Amino acid sequence: MHKSDFFSPARVNQLQQIETPYYAYDLALLNETLSQLKNAAGSKYHVHYALKANAHPQLLNKILAAGFGADCVSGNEVQRAIDCGFKNSSIVFAGVGKSDKEIHLALDADIFCFNVESIAELNVIDALAEQKNKIANIALRINPNVDAYTHKYITTGLEENKFGINPYEFEEVIAVLDGLKHVQLIGLHFHIGSQIKDLNVFKNLCLKVNDINRWFLQKGLKIQHLNLGGGLGIDYAEPDKNAIVDFNSFFRLFDDFLKAEKSQQIHFELGRAIIAQCGHLVSRVLYIKNGINTNFMILDAGMTELIRPALYQAFHKIENISRYQATAGTKYDVVGPICESSDCFGKSVLLPFSERGDLIAIRSAGAYGEVMSNRYNLRDQVQSHFF
Ligand code: LLP
Repeated sequence: MHKSDFFSPARVNQLQQIETPYYAYDLALLNETLSQLKNAAGSKYHVHYALKANAHPQLLNKILAAGFGADCVSGNEVQRAIDCGFKNSSIVFAGVGKSDKEIHLALDADIFCFNVESIAELNVIDALAEQKNKIANIALRINPNVDAYTHKYITTGLEENKFGINPYEFEEVIAVLDGLKHVQLIGLHFHIGSQIKDLNVFKNLCLKVNDINRWFLQKGLKIQHLNLGGGLGIDYAEPDKNAIVDFNSFFRLFDDFLKAEKSQQIHFELGRAIIAQCGHLVSRVLYIKNGINTNFMILDAGMTELIRPALYQAFHKIENISRYQATAGTKYDVVGPICESSDCFGKSVLLPFSERGDLIAIRSAGAYGEVMSNRYNLRDQVQSHFF
């Protein structure tokens, strides 16, 4: 079985001194992930990091230093990216419901591109840009009707999903664009879902994108940019064996199947694949409560710190790092302190016999962990520590 070097006895001793629960980030792993991604993307592919996965400034600084751009889905994310030093010209802004305030902010910042999700939004951006006497760069977010075969809450590219512009609207979009003087179409944008493990899904996406791209080019529209979104999945079951995603295979697939024009730039918006594995939620065992059929391990972290298991029935590997080398002893339902039965990190998890005070790591929690934390039950805001 693979064990992480991160949880050495010296490190566990260090972690033990800190008030739980908290997120512990492994910056060495993040750096290595960024360097592998950079090598795999080369100069051919432009990666914008999806801030929604984790927008902590210390992590953003590393991502910025590695040379990536930013993908934002709110005005506050745009502002965070700017505050952290991302070039405005590297920022893309998506979202099905951008408010006027958010559009103003992004227009004032002269961001690289708005990923526009509806005809109604096109008209609003045009009107607000006109007030400022500006021309906004826009990409049409297309809903290509490609199944991502992932959890239904994180599938975004099907006709039934609220995202993007559908192919049956294309003629109308072109007619509308023709009449708008303050938006300039520069690209097409696609994002079909998250935690996509089967690379064939991206092949299907490429085939659809090829058709749609050709259609727009044949209409004489200048599509300089193709943005394929994010969605590349990670290995939640084996976070140590597969700590870094195979970025080479991912990009090779686009080399093989995406038929872009030579002049077109290709963009991606990866979040999870960059940041998930370097984050661990560290918690302490408060109580062990043995039942007739079920042993409960009650932690001081709950769905307020990491909501993914409760919301998506997501699997996260759970380890007792106080007894890291011990062989498994018994099965626990690992639960939090929140007054909800959905506040459960894992059922029948095989762990060493554990005691009050043991440190528990919930792995692969760097993406959509801290950013989705909340203060339900008036819990303290979860803290972060960097190693
Ligand atoms: N681009 C757009 C337009 C997106 O909506 C997303 C994610 C991404 C890029 C980044 O996707 P990634 O590479 O991280 O898969 N909270 C859920 C995930 C929601 C994803 C939302 N959109 C979870 O915890 O699994």
